[in-house]
Amino acid sequence: MSKAVFPGSFDPVTNGHLDLIKRASKIFDRLVVGVLINSAKKPLFSVEERVEMIEELTSEFGNVTVQSFDGLLVDFVKMTDSDVIVRGLRTSQDFEYELPLAQTNYKLSDGTDTIFLATAPEHSYISSSAVKELLRYSADISDMVPAQVYKRLT
Ligand code: PNS
Repeated sequence: MSKAVFPGSFDPVTNGHLDLIKRASKIFDRLVVGVLINSAKKPLFSVEERVEMIEELTSEFGNVTVQSFDGLLVDFVKMTDSDVIVRGLRTSQDFEYELPLAQTNYKLSDGTDTIFLATAPEHSYISSSAVKELLRYSADISDMVPAQVYKRLT
């Protein structure tokens, strides 16, 4: 049975994340969405809220669970008895950022692979940080996040 971890901050979860979760849930038997507890940053949503929202949005997929985690991603992968890490790639800048991360995780864990999924073209401009920035200027972000998240943000 294949089990993957899809990690991130998800502050907030976007349409891009949700599409990747849906697609990854079709590739792997089980998918664990790992929500990072980042105590250094002041998040828009608490980790509990982020977990709750993603659980709500993914309940229909059947094989997706959502858990928060602190510390190293490779430890979370081990703790959840997962095989691989899944990350999305929007642009070549993402690739520059993700490659050393994937290599570090590979090295730290003695062989955990990271599998990259290409973000759907219609989502490639979306990021959680852009959503937060646009919100500060009261710009329309309704196309960037799921309706449930939009409701909580406005
Ligand atoms: O959604 P994000 O913020 O791009 O996700 C980044 C995340 C959570 C994948 C990354 O920051 C992470 O794995 N953090 C946990 C600490 C860790 O294991 N770092 C990797 C070694 S440098």
